[in-house]
Amino acid sequence: MTRTTTVRIAMNGVTGRMGYRQHLLRSILALRDQGGLDLGDGTVLWPEPVLLGRREHALREIAERHGLEHVSTDLDAVLADPDVDIYFDAQVTAAREEAVRKAIAAGKHVYTEKPTATGLDGALALARLAREKGVRHGVVQDKLFLPGLLKLKRLIDGGFFGRILSVRGEFGYWVFEGDWQQAQRPSWNYRAEDGGGIVVDMFPHWEYVLHELFGRVTSVQALTATHVPRRWDEHGKPYTATADDAAYGIFELDGGAVAQINSSWAVRVHRDELVEFQVDGTQGSAVAGLRECRVQHRSATPKPVWNPDLPATERFRDQWQRVPDNGEFDNGFKAQWELFLRHVYAGAPYRWDLLAGARGVQLAELGLKSAAEGRRLAVPEIAL
Ligand SMILES: NC(=O)c1ccc[n+]([C@@H]2O[C@H](COP(=O)([O-])OP(=O)(O)OC[C@H]3O[C@@H](n4cnc5c(N)ncnc54)[C@H](O)[C@@H]3O)[C@@H](O)[C@H]2O)c1
Repeated sequence: MTRTTTVRIAMNGVTGRMGYRQHLLRSILALRDQGGLDLGDGTVLWPEPVLLGRREHALREIAERHGLEHVSTDLDAVLADPDVDIYFDAQVTAAREEAVRKAIAAGKHVYTEKPTATGLDGALALARLAREKGVRHGVVQDKLFLPGLLKLKRLIDGGFFGRILSVRGEFGYWVFEGDWQQAQRPSWNYRAEDGGGIVVDMFPHWEYVLHELFGRVTSVQALTATHVPRRWDEHGKPYTATADDAAYGIFELDGGAVAQINSSWAVRVHRDELVEFQVDGTQGSAVAGLRECRVQHRSATPKPVWNPDLPATERFRDQWQRVPDNGEFDNGFKAQWELFLRHVYAGAPYRWDLLAGARGVQLAELGLKSAAEGRRLAVPEIAL
């Protein structure tokens, strides 16, 4: 006999790109499609979203499309509802801190997109408040659940690399300016005053990827640029891009490895995937993307000789071996939602919390400071 428990989740920002596609559709509705989340103790959790936002008609339209019942534009009223257990936030970054603070104060468990706040002080304050209130909390760290990075982690755990020397990350693609072709990202991303910028957006991801796979980031040196200073918004109106759209970062890691990651919305893709990490170790190297991972072992490493007078004699890409899946990978956002729900309702351990989220905010803050001051900065370890 299984018992079904309804879990009411206030989902704020579901009209947005991430909130709608990854969190509502690919996570919460996908969980419903599979019959709920089986906790394995006779309980099945049935997630019941309450669509929360500013535009009622847009929320109603989504609710109707997916046969959902609950819609609200009143955050305070939703947080006052004792039937609501969890508050989830995928709003624009600038609106997050205040809403999450209110949710914690109301005693709700919180799950939120990154970055958790616009500055380290605010991010730490949220983590402290959550601890004081005794609520459970989680922050999206989706890249850890990508098939490519899971395979990379498997290689690390299996000792494939020997001593890891360096990590080279390349992230980005061309984001259209919005004049003759519509931009494929929201315009607030390009305005610093609205919480935009590629450092604020991507450094939180790089913090947990580097930390979990290779070692904590101990220093950062970044150079940022606004390569495309004029863009056109959702209404076709030109605006000045005040935020960085590219960041060239070097990170020292605990354990001695060096990571170098380029992040850019002004680069054209000549890679296999939109993000790729090359990891070089004494025993072997790997290149991991979103889905794929390729390796070259020490024993199969060719010996190229530098001679610019001759055309390349080898096809270097062909000298790598594909790492097999050896399993099935679910959507990364859904996988993390499941772990969070197990944490809240079955007490399962969960380390991607608001303190972990604050580390990401810290790295972004220090990255911007490093760029502004033109120097390398230590990244102190934070605690509550
Ligand atoms: N985990 C990831 O890989 C990932 C990827 C992209 C974005 N994000 C994060 O998700 C959040 C949302 O990003 P997005 O790309 O979905 O943005 P979006 O612009 O598509 O969506 C933003 C949402 O916030 C709402 N909103 C609330 N207050 C607002 C305000 N004052 N102005 C404008 N919109 C407001 C919008 O209605 C919309 O629902 C951001 O914090 C971003 O950092 C995470």
